[in-house]
Amino acid sequence: MTLSLFHPANTDEVIKLFTDVFTNSEGELEGQNLGNLVSNLITQSKPQDLIGCVATDMGCVVGCIFFSRFTVPSGQVAFILSPVAVSTNVQKTGIGQQLINYGLDHLRSLKVNLVFTYGNPAYYSKTGFKQITTNIVNAPFPLSQSMGWLAQALDGQPIQVMQGATQCVEALNDPKYW
Ligand SMILES: CC(C)(COP(=O)(O)OP(=O)(O)OC[C@H]1O[C@@H](n2cnc3c(N)ncnc32)[C@H](O)[C@@H]1OP(=O)(O)O)[C@@H](O)C(=O)NCCC(=O)NCCS
Repeated sequence: MTLSLFHPANTDEVIKLFTDVFTNSEGELEGQNLGNLVSNLITQSKPQDLIGCVATDMGCVVGCIFFSRFTVPSGQVAFILSPVAVSTNVQKTGIGQQLINYGLDHLRSLKVNLVFTYGNPAYYSKTGFKQITTNIVNAPFPLSQSMGWLAQALDGQPIQVMQGATQCVEALNDPKYW
């Protein structure tokens, strides 16, 4: 298994991965939604606002994650991790955590201060994310699952309370994702 940064040549294979993985886990509609989300992230985000990481095995993409720029009122450099998918037949073999750690190391090398995600705390706590509240950092929209609002600092500093709005990239800028 090889970890690398997403390259536009991976686009079709990565969209298919997300569509298939979420179709298997949550049904066809959610599979289509995630395929569309990833397509929008790739085509609508500025290159400097999107960082993808892929896991390949025998030349096939078996996992993929995306970090997109997340603008916070403190002015610190921040990204949000979403979405994440590992091929159904190789889930629970550590690929998801290896991909996330690989991506976090890359963000550290770019001097990114903060990384957010919105998901299952039991899973994302394995790679350093901790629960926060919207009193500490606002989400762009009201959260349907407030316990899933997670963050970690990559610069060794505590996450400071910040007042004011946050902004995600266009592809995630829809209340249905939050
Ligand atoms: C969720 C997902 C990304 C995890 O990746 P993975 O490579 O299968 O997971 P890993 O092998 O890195 O980690 C396995 C560990 O995480 C746990 N885990 C896996 N999926 C989990 C989930 N959805 N919720 C909570 N814990 C989970 C496993 O129980 C295991 O725990 P253990 O190490 O204590 O035994 C992957 O299963 C997946 O693509 N699922 C379908 C799509 C999805 O739900 N994506 C996340 C939302 S964007």
